[in-house]
Amino acid sequence: MKKLIAGNWKMNLVADGVDRLAQQLTEKIAQQQLADVEFLVCPPSLWLERVKNSAQSASISLGGQDCHEQEKGAYTGDISATMLKSMGCNYVILGHSERRHGHHQETNDLIKQKIQAVHQSGLIAILCVGETLQERQAGQAIEVVKKQISDCLPSDSSSANIVIAYEPVWAIGTGEVATPEDIATMHDAIRNHLTQDHEVVSEARLIYGGSVKPENAQSVLATPNVDGVLVGGASLSADSFIAIGRAV
Ligand code: PGA
Repeated sequence: MKKLIAGNWKMNLVADGVDRLAQQLTEKIAQQQLADVEFLVCPPSLWLERVKNSAQSASISLGGQDCHEQEKGAYTGDISATMLKSMGCNYVILGHSERRHGHHQETNDLIKQKIQAVHQSGLIAILCVGETLQERQAGQAIEVVKKQISDCLPSDSSSANIVIAYEPVWAIGTGEVATPEDIATMHDAIRNHLTQDHEVVSEARLIYGGSVKPENAQSVLATPNVDGVLVGGASLSADSFIAIGRAV
């Protein structure tokens, strides 16, 4: 199976920066022979159109960072999974901690509805899960993550339409990467949980996210049960994003 190297651009870049990054990615990825890697970029939805052609020519998959749970309607400011699909996206990130906490306060129940909308549009949902520092220190990390998975997976899930991204909240954007042992323990626990309680997704890809950069990518990607990475900050530079792919 190819490793998924996914870039979450979050709310970064204005038009000229988007064009520059898209062009660099196209040129540089075309120069690589990385048959074992699937690159995915998730720009702000406003920029999908700008990134689409570059992505297509370099065989980079395209994804959204979120979507509404309804297909269409009077939901000012929102976008639907159907819209992302019609723009050429294959993936949608859902349940990111930046949407679970802070401003948006998304619940497991809402995330489940959004995943359902993504599946109905024929797209793949990247379900983000992860514990806070407080939960880790209280020894609850594995239980918290297992519950997030069980509460968020809709019944139409399959190993093909779900990717699970383990992203410990304390490692996102902090420079603090989980140790290979922490990642191995959690990914092992997630795999067992899927096999025991959610058989239909037992072979879903499990990826890790949280301060992944070229310097630590190799050890993260060599960890058992790690099928790829979700990269924030380091995906905003073509060189570092591609270097992470090369670490495969
Ligand atoms: P980071 O973000 O790589 O900047 O820590 C990861 C993520 O939020 O997906």
